[in-house]
Amino acid sequence: METMSSVSEELAQKALDKSNLVIVAGAQWWDEGKWKAVSAFQRKDIFLIVGANGGGNAGHTVHYHGEKLDFHELPGGSVIEWAQIYLSKWKVINVATLVSELYKLRGAWIDLKGKLIIGWWAQVILKSAQQALDQHIEALKWKSAVGTTMKGIGPAYALGDLRVGITIKELVMKDDDYLHNRIKTIVGIFPSLQEENMLRELVTERSKLRELMESWVLSIDTEDMLVNDRYRDGRNILVEQSQSFLLGREGGAYPNCTSSDTSIAGLLSYLNLPYNANPEVIATIKAVMSKVGGGILATQMGRESNQYLAFEQAFADMTDEKWVTTGRLRDLGWVDMVALRHVLRINPIHTLLITKGDILKILAREQQKAKLPLEMRFYHSFQSPDGHTVPSGVITDPDYIWQHSSIALSPDDTSSNIRAFGDRIWELLPEFSWPIYFGTGAGERDVVKFR
Ligand code: IMP
Repeated sequence: METMSSVSEELAQKALDKSNLVIVAGAQWWDEGKWKAVSAFQRKDIFLIVGANGGGNAGHTVHYHGEKLDFHELPGGSVIEWAQIYLSKWKVINVATLVSELYKLRGAWIDLKGKLIIGWWAQVILKSAQQALDQHIEALKWKSAVGTTMKGIGPAYALGDLRVGITIKELVMKDDDYLHNRIKTIVGIFPSLQEENMLRELVTERSKLRELMESWVLSIDTEDMLVNDRYRDGRNILVEQSQSFLLGREGGAYPNCTSSDTSIAGLLSYLNLPYNANPEVIATIKAVMSKVGGGILATQMGRESNQYLAFEQAFADMTDEKWVTTGRLRDLGWVDMVALRHVLRINPIHTLLITKGDILKILAREQQKAKLPLEMRFYHSFQSPDGHTVPSGVITDPDYIWQHSSIALSPDDTSSNIRAFGDRIWELLPEFSWPIYFGTGAGERDVVKFR
């Protein structure tokens, strides 16, 4: 196991040696510490950082020169000084929030002036429309509510599908009459919306878009071929997926999922790249799974003993980790190998980065306090309640009878925890042979190579 500080540099170099198109993606359901991988790419030859999908629902915690920043509209890699930033046509954007995020960054000495490129076809989110609808729909669903981030993401994609949402292009090009008519159409479909508020907000979004274009935007990608062109030119491109593979609409957690396609195939199509483009994919998972939002976490800790719930609070306190978008406390879960195997079967993945390896020590300490066995569990197969073994797919039902194995944890030795954890992952996934790295702390260089 190497522990040199250059390990994160090696991670980036090895990926770029194989392809000029690198995708960083979350390999399970929720926030999986993608910044740990993205931060390895702070190098001068990165030409383009791409936010591929989603919008203000995404939360990226970025540790940059000792400061902790959070991003929502922009990809975490926006701090990479030399790169241009591209928000793809499949992003859904609240322009006022985007502009305030840009000012906040400027306050932290990161100026994206003249570096931002926006896809023409991205949907514009109005708080009084898409966001209000998100709240309205969630309230109606009551017990089956998704637990969305209430940022209007689902309705933004839905209005796009209905071809009544307003795109960046329309906000730039179309006159008042056209846009007012569109707002009337949306209100006609969803009478709970307030037309007056929407008209007022439209004026703000337009003036914010003008400010964005004058002060920040390098260009608008009217052809929608930017990523394709740069890929063919051989420029280094870093694509950030928002959310994670299994949180995609078809990811398996429906209806507790987001609304875009988060698979590699989906991202390639959003970016107008051919299916045979050759991305190098770095997938991240957390050593301990954590989740906010609705739905079941099938491998949730705490089922065996309420004592594990104390770990949830300890996890939040010790890592300062609440969910950056909602501030809610996270549920925690053991490693779901069935889900990971499923993700690996349907996405090309070349490197696995297991983040928060240092958390295992904290888990062990909490277990020790609660007089529980000092162990980490890996759920790797299951049976349905009627006794049949279920062939494949993602199980989000806690009633399945899971088979697990565990490793002993040390309350004070991160290296031995990581060694045991890596060995077990390797053993349980003999069919895959990618390199495995571990994150061991908040710092950009806190990365070790397992193999
Ligand atoms: P929405 O994307 O706001 O519609 O939320 C749908 C589901 O995805 C909810 O369970 C959210 O908590 C979850 N979600 C959306 N974006 C993220 C993210 O970036 N990280 C973690 N969970 C997310």
